[in-house]
Amino acid sequence: MSYPNWLYTSVGYEIYPRSFYDSNQDGVGDIRGIIEKIDYLKHLGINLLWVGPFYPSPLDDNGYDVIDHRDVDDRLGTLDDIKELIDECHKRDIKIIFDYIMNQTSDEHPWFIESRQSVTSKKRDYYIWSKEPNNWGSFFGGSAWNYDETSNEYYLKIFSDKMPDLNWSNPKVRSEMFDLAKYWLDLGADGFRMDAIAHLGKDMTLTHSRKKLDEDGIAPDWSKFSNRDALYDYLEELKTKVFDRYDMVSIGEVGGGAKLRDAYKYTKTIDMVFNFDACWCLDENKQTDVLELKQVINYWITGMKNKGYLLPQYWLNHDHPRVMSQYGDENNPKVSGKMLATILLFLYGVPFIYNGEEIGMTNAKYTKIEDFKDVSSQNYIRLNKHRKTEKEILNHLLFNSRDHGHLPMQWSATKYAGFSTTTPYLKVNSDYKTVNVEDQLKDEDSLLNFYRQAINLRINSEYTNTFIHGDFKLIEEKSKSIFGYIREDDNYTITILANMKNKKVTYKEQDSEIILSNLKTHTANELQPYESIVMVNKK
Ligand code: NOJ
Repeated sequence: MSYPNWLYTSVGYEIYPRSFYDSNQDGVGDIRGIIEKIDYLKHLGINLLWVGPFYPSPLDDNGYDVIDHRDVDDRLGTLDDIKELIDECHKRDIKIIFDYIMNQTSDEHPWFIESRQSVTSKKRDYYIWSKEPNNWGSFFGGSAWNYDETSNEYYLKIFSDKMPDLNWSNPKVRSEMFDLAKYWLDLGADGFRMDAIAHLGKDMTLTHSRKKLDEDGIAPDWSKFSNRDALYDYLEELKTKVFDRYDMVSIGEVGGGAKLRDAYKYTKTIDMVFNFDACWCLDENKQTDVLELKQVINYWITGMKNKGYLLPQYWLNHDHPRVMSQYGDENNPKVSGKMLATILLFLYGVPFIYNGEEIGMTNAKYTKIEDFKDVSSQNYIRLNKHRKTEKEILNHLLFNSRDHGHLPMQWSATKYAGFSTTTPYLKVNSDYKTVNVEDQLKDEDSLLNFYRQAINLRINSEYTNTFIHGDFKLIEEKSKSIFGYIREDDNYTITILANMKNKKVTYKEQDSEIILSNLKTHTANELQPYESIVMVNKK
């Protein structure tokens, strides 16, 4: 695989546009809001911006249900705003990529409206129809099929009812989707985060799964539509017809269940794959399972690096609770947030920060289940309200909901967190007076400034080559508290040590120079609660 040169030294930043900054004060973040904050991103030091969905959408699934893949939702701006955003990023040497939403459309997309009109519609085969549903389950709960009264058949939808899956086995669909990729690349995009690509190939025999059925008679069997052979052919075609002609990056979301053998197949055609393995490494008490976390990160890095492949690294994204509430400690936000930044930013690969992570945003402290708006939260409520108490449902959502990732960005301590001057579409989290950008910009010792410092060390220092290309090796492998690793090349051995627990630990220290730490002092051979250090030995 040959990567664009700039990818090696990229530090990514994902923005969920509706929650980033509301420039026209209507309660919804927008593209001009991102333009107004580009200098903030430049100051932070990132150089690869991933902007989530902004296409016209009924917003059943946060914009992943698209009506028109080539336009901008009125509430978020115009195509001219997007062009300006691309230009403003490029002026600052920031690459910009968009979500390429390939697996499904909205049921309000003109293709689907035409497809459902009758069984003989010209666009019937743009989607996957069946006279009878099989037992496949949807990722958002319930059946993967939805009944359509007009044509008296069922359509496949592995996400929400309003998101019919496209039929990628149809060459016309592929051709339309390839043109779409060209359209954005010609407009100046530097690549894509390719949504849900693991699911482009389905078992087109549509036969029942033999997996054990759940209490609703549904088989939670993702293998019927995940990582199947056909999709690699589709991606190969996309590469030769489109991607090979551009200086771009392609990053596929391959989700849970994908292993190295799948990643090797993907990376023949696309640059990198996002897997989910490091997202939920928790023990039975919902505390970080440090051993498991090290094991999965090591599995992916060694497996990919040995073959010369890059991979993205991240703690969270728009589908995920806040890492501060998960692997961090809300009661010790500064030190635990810096510890998490330290682990992430020196790994092999391309790190991605999610908007708000750099200031330590936490999970929503909502008190009512009605405050949760995400479609998978709503489905969870609907499917469980007869078998669980409201308190149980609330507790589940407080820990797991995707709404946490959509919380309005906390820019200042003013009303609505400086995100907007009017009521935001999703309730602002209650901690914005103590967790916000404005305060942290002023405080030299803040988490935000630590992110800046660490990014700078990664990509603009004498150690850059070691962080980018150096070998990766876990240390303190058996420790249940320490996440430790070495990055090494001919010039330096760099040791990264982070105590992920709220309890002092001891270890055997080598004599080295500390180049980054999250506490003012360091006691040799000890790591204080959440302490992290980066140490160098010159060869
Ligand atoms: C993955 C996206 O990250 C998620 O937000 C979305 O719900 C599904 N794909 C469907 O597009």
